[in-house]
Amino acid sequence: MATDLIRFVRAAVVLALAEGACTVCAHPKCGCDLTGESWCTAAKHCHDDLDNSSGCQWGVACFNDSEAHHCHEQTNAAGACTWGVSCSSAFGVRKLYTSALPGPAKDWVNSWDLPANSISRVDDSDSNDAQTFFKGSGQVAFGGDGTATFHRSPRLYIRSGGSGWEDIEFTAYGRYRAYGDVRSYSGLTLVARTNHGDYTDGCSAPGYYARIYTTTGEVAFQKEYYHGTSVVYSASRRLPGPSNPYGVDLSSGLPLDEWIGLKFVVYTATDPDDGAPAVQLKLYLDFSRGARGGDWVLAHELLDTSGSWMATRAIPDECGTEDGHVRDGEPIFGGREYCFLRTDGDSDTVVEWANASVRHISGAATPRTTGCED
Ligand SMILES: *[C@@H]1O[C@H](CO)[C@@H](O)[C@H](O)[C@H]1NC(C)=O
Ligand SMILES: *[C@@H]1O[C@H](CO)[C@@H](O)[C@H](O)[C@H]1NC(C)=O
Ligand SMILES: *[C@@H]1O[C@H](CO)[C@@H](O)[C@H](O)[C@H]1NC(C)=O
Repeated sequence: MATDLIRFVRAAVVLALAEGACTVCAHPKCGCDLTGESWCTAAKHCHDDLDNSSGCQWGVACFNDSEAHHCHEQTNAAGACTWGVSCSSAFGVRKLYTSALPGPAKDWVNSWDLPANSISRVDDSDSNDAQTFFKGSGQVAFGGDGTATFHRSPRLYIRSGGSGWEDIEFTAYGRYRAYGDVRSYSGLTLVARTNHGDYTDGCSAPGYYARIYTTTGEVAFQKEYYHGTSVVYSASRRLPGPSNPYGVDLSSGLPLDEWIGLKFVVYTATDPDDGAPAVQLKLYLDFSRGARGGDWVLAHELLDTSGSWMATRAIPDECGTEDGHVRDGEPIFGGREYCFLRTDGDSDTVVEWANASVRHISGAATPRTTGCED
């Protein structure tokens, strides 16, 4: 019986490999070679053992921080000798929040390892990824090596594809290569819940910003209310950049040549005072350069409740008259079509991004502490 099972399993592996179908790492005890694929590393994918039924499903993690690297959301469907989807998201980066239940909404992962190309005209897309497009000024160069390099002041928009980005975990690693002319608002900037990509009506362009300021190293949130003939924002809510054991010093601004991971988490929550809907913003940072999925620290959090975070000047009267508009003091609710990555500077400014993804998280949005319950 056991021998039959092993035979079956071996056959399945051989078949899977023969068909080139080994798209996830396979367990070495099932005969798969962890070194066979460049992306399949022991650190991320090896397991000490199979499950105790020898059913060729997942085994025991090799490391103690197993939920980050070694637990799996599901077994492979075929029961063949491959294991399931990792609890790490794309690029082996740790997921902090539970994924949304499977549905029509698709997550996004950058394609910056595909053949190099660059974009510098408004609305042009990465030739490898029609879901993204350019706005702003300067250039985005996709390096073919997993990086996207931003020159001057580009914005790289990421469409949701119709379902809207609502409750999300938006991850990217950024590093400055050259400052150029640093503006007061320059930084590593992620924007979520916005229709900024294609609005015609300035009242429908609100969005939430998370940023590390280049000049001060402060972490901040800001809410954009209106983008028309003028631009109306909330005040920027700032905190000093966190200290960390990895030698990344933010006390005098963003250092050059230092990768910093950002996770901007946005989800609809409840105002504990009156039970009204509110929007929770969290910014987690990783200074470990991605080691073992990232050592993510909560650097800033803010609950945007009704009336608590006003515009710094008057929003035009017409805002508030249509769906998607946001009145002064209102949180930004609902799925919106875009997230985007942004940097600001001049022609000498060079900022690299890597390992970017946007993932739909469940409404309950419980941070993952143990296990892999999806
Ligand atoms: C593995 O073995 C333990 C201890 O015998 C048992 O409690 C557990 O249910 C088993 N798990 C599976 C998946 O068979
Ligand atoms: C996991 O942690 C325990 C207790 O700290 C330790 O005894 C054990 O050796 C660790 N295992 C691995 C694989 O590092
Ligand atoms: C991005 O992910 C790749 C693959 O896991 C890793 O080798 C690389 O170091 C990561 N880059 C950053 C900047 O974290």
